[in-house]
Amino acid sequence: MSFINKVVLVTGAGSGIGEAICLHFAKLSARLSLVDKDAGNLKKTAEICEKLSRAKVLTTVADLRIDTQVKEAVENTKKQFGKIDVVINCAGIYKPASIFDANLIEVYDDILSSNLRSIVSMTNCVAEELAKTNGNIINVSSVSGAFKCALYKASAGALDHFTASVALELASKGVRINSIAPGVVKTSILANAGVDQEEREALWNEASSSPLNKLVKTEDVVELAAFLASDKAKAMTGCTYPVDAGLALA
Ligand SMILES: NC(=O)c1ccc[n+]([C@@H]2O[C@H](COP(=O)([O-])OP(=O)(O)OC[C@H]3O[C@@H](n4cnc5c(N)ncnc54)[C@H](O)[C@@H]3O)[C@@H](O)[C@H]2O)c1
Repeated sequence: MSFINKVVLVTGAGSGIGEAICLHFAKLSARLSLVDKDAGNLKKTAEICEKLSRAKVLTTVADLRIDTQVKEAVENTKKQFGKIDVVINCAGIYKPASIFDANLIEVYDDILSSNLRSIVSMTNCVAEELAKTNGNIINVSSVSGAFKCALYKASAGALDHFTASVALELASKGVRINSIAPGVVKTSILANAGVDQEEREALWNEASSSPLNKLVKTEDVVELAAFLASDKAKAMTGCTYPVDAGLALA
């Protein structure tokens, strides 16, 4: 599989699943536009990708909760490469929240603006561009849930519904959109949410006893992302594909 001359914009490029997807697409010779709010991690990913692809990688530091910054990331990409073929939305957060918490709505706003609103905004900004290239979008949602995860799960469910619902409208312009829903993957997402080491290990141990007796690895997710982004998936749109080692079955 090759993405030579394909322009691929990846959000959440600085860490975890997004970083792994960037490295994989760099190996597949894509022209990369990488976006993250963490400037240091973004730079590190870009440097590795440049070594792998031997091509200049565009980076935009952006907080995707802010519409003008979403727009800036898209405009930078168009200016640098002249087109966009694929958008992979990996930026997202987890935050534990109990329905009894006094600050629940504050956390709701943060999770929904990071995991859903940012992607609606991105889709709005790139739809016309993708119509020109018969491009496609891949969203990363989730089948996993750590503790106190009602808001996180709500954001993932809403994202899957958005993917399915907007697919029809995008299909009329030749644009595909799909979701990948990973199970539990060892990344920085829990540490970033303030979950301590002991709780993280406990969660990963529990998830390791999935029906397939394993945690999901970033490489399990990247393979599906490459397939869905490619012409091999040209008849596939509007669906969510779990990569969860059977977690949702248990
Ligand atoms: N790790 C898991 O177990 C798991 C499971 C299922 C789904 N997911 C989903 O996968 C996606 C990536 O998660 P991960 O585990 O790689 O997390 P991660 O914390 O390792 O990486 C997320 C990246 O997104 C960036 N980001 C977050 N909010 C942003 C914003 N507003 N603007 C710009 N960048 C932002 C962060 O800076 C970080 O680099 C998330 O949407 C998450 O919900 C993760």
